Amino acid sequence: MCGIIGYLGTREAAPVLMDGLRRLEYRGYDSAGVAVVSPGAEVASVVKCAARVEQLIEQLRTDMPAGSLGVGHTRWATHGKPTVLNAHPHTDCGRRITVVHNGIIENFRELREELEGAGHEFLSDTDTEVVPHLIEHHYRGDFVAATRHALGRLRGAYALVMFSLDEPELLVGARLNAPLVVGLGEGEYFIASDIAAIVAYTKKVLVLGEGEMVVVTSLGPVVTSLDGIPVEPRVLHVDWDVSQAERSGYPHFMLKEIHETPEAAANALRGRLDRQGHVEFTEFEMDDERLRSLEEVRLLGMGTSLHAALAGEHVIEDWAGLAARAQDSSEFRYRRPVLGGNALVVAITQSGETADTIVALRAARATGALGVAVTNVVGSTAARDADGAIYLQAGPEIGVASTKTFVAHLVSLYLLALRLATARRRMSPERCEELAAELRSLPDAVRHLLAGEPEIARLAHRYAGYRNFMYVGRGLAYPVALEGALKLKEISYVHAEGTSGGELKHGPIALLDAEFPVVAVCTASPVREKTVGNVHEVVARGAPVLAVVSEGDRSLEGVASDLLEIPRTGEAASAVLASVALQLFAYHLAVELGRDVDRPRNLAKSVTVE
Ligand code: F6R
Repeated sequence: MCGIIGYLGTREAAPVLMDGLRRLEYRGYDSAGVAVVSPGAEVASVVKCAARVEQLIEQLRTDMPAGSLGVGHTRWATHGKPTVLNAHPHTDCGRRITVVHNGIIENFRELREELEGAGHEFLSDTDTEVVPHLIEHHYRGDFVAATRHALGRLRGAYALVMFSLDEPELLVGARLNAPLVVGLGEGEYFIASDIAAIVAYTKKVLVLGEGEMVVVTSLGPVVTSLDGIPVEPRVLHVDWDVSQAERSGYPHFMLKEIHETPEAAANALRGRLDRQGHVEFTEFEMDDERLRSLEEVRLLGMGTSLHAALAGEHVIEDWAGLAARAQDSSEFRYRRPVLGGNALVVAITQSGETADTIVALRAARATGALGVAVTNVVGSTAARDADGAIYLQAGPEIGVASTKTFVAHLVSLYLLALRLATARRRMSPERCEELAAELRSLPDAVRHLLAGEPEIARLAHRYAGYRNFMYVGRGLAYPVALEGALKLKEISYVHAEGTSGGELKHGPIALLDAEFPVVAVCTASPVREKTVGNVHEVVARGAPVLAVVSEGDRSLEGVASDLLEIPRTGEAASAVLASVALQLFAYHLAVELGRDVDRPRNLAKSVTVE
């Protein structure tokens, strides 16, 4: 959604805010702004623009506001168009209270009406603007008390950072259903939507919990619940470096992150899988007895994470013989879920902050189900809300399109399936060993695949003129096909659909002709021959076919228009390799079309509102 940052310390705030906003831009980028104040100032200097952070930085360079207290915001519009007036920060009538916000205030209309009735004048169409006015409304000489009062009246989701000119020694943050972290430096403090924005300054980070508020002064942060009850702060030491959140010479974060896949796969496996196929998760350990008593696994996710869930569903049923079902979290949350104490709910979320998935996880756990979050972000809401977490350990992912974390999700779900399979004694020791070897060879196999990138770029160049694509796969290659199509559409804006090979004949095939190519995932699988059959069907209808095949497989030569070869391995590892190949294909096709790969239109990395 939006990215927010605040600074209180001894250095100039504006450069810190600019730097942080640049790193937060993946969260939203249709307008941006900062407010900075120096001690004793009568007004805060506010600079805003209805464009990307880069333009704001240009504006600031010519007119840098002075002061060591400030807030900044990069916006992904929900209420109100991306205009300068709607850009954050927002202030009250007296321009003394300044607020930046990520989230949605659901009851803003009624609050606005009430405040307007009391004489407050609004300048923007945003939901956020009610916050400074509400604080002003409740202000009786104590900014923190007024803020607490105001927060008590808000419904919806918010991460807020704010200050008041009347108490410029304070920076206040609060969160409800949206992430917020506090960076603890030497005599300086940062509040931000995520760690990447502040890790260049400090690796000591306090993760604000759900429904908590932080008041920062030069003496440090004080954390309380929203109604003022003291809370023991949770401080983490960040074990990754700012260079991991920078492009390191790659033209785009997306490409850099695809190239980090071998390490991401290795990190997801690290310390968890031995040669015999035994799996151990440190943050989520259940005894075999409990695993044997499970009757069902429900996997919840959105977008790319839903595709990972579909792959998880497949291997949990196939390997562990346990009923599994992947579901769109946004649909699940509005049903009356039929789950119970013998169900395991797996929330799949890179960010750990996707609103629909978090609410769905809570709804599932409320039925008595055991919940585990498979997430990349330590201390994220999903991780905290669940009974346990399986961390991807993939390092920060900045590109809006998920790439290396999709692979880390697949690997983690394979491990979960293997853990369930061994506990339930559903897999022979030989098969366990074979799978372990297949998974352990993944990092090298991905490296091998990445070495073939120029050929994939050539194919992307060749297919860049088409306006429609159909991705087809079966078995584990079905979610791979769905994800391949999603990757292409989100960064190239070219229409792409994914379908199962079986479903193809039930409708989608009607779309195909010489202008509508098919990307067929025909890699190792017990149902590979069936997908090969699909290729023959669509070729007979004149559609060009790009077939993803295992190295050395010549069976589709002369049938498919082009072959994209991936290293030869088993079905599970092939699904990973085919996914990486299709990520590269989408990447190069989007670059060929001149798209802004890291910041695709209308999208945001982390969808923290419904
Ligand atoms: C697509 C993409 C999105 C996310 C989805 C869920 O490339 O990144 O579809 O997968 O918004 O996000 P998380 O995994 O953070 O819950």
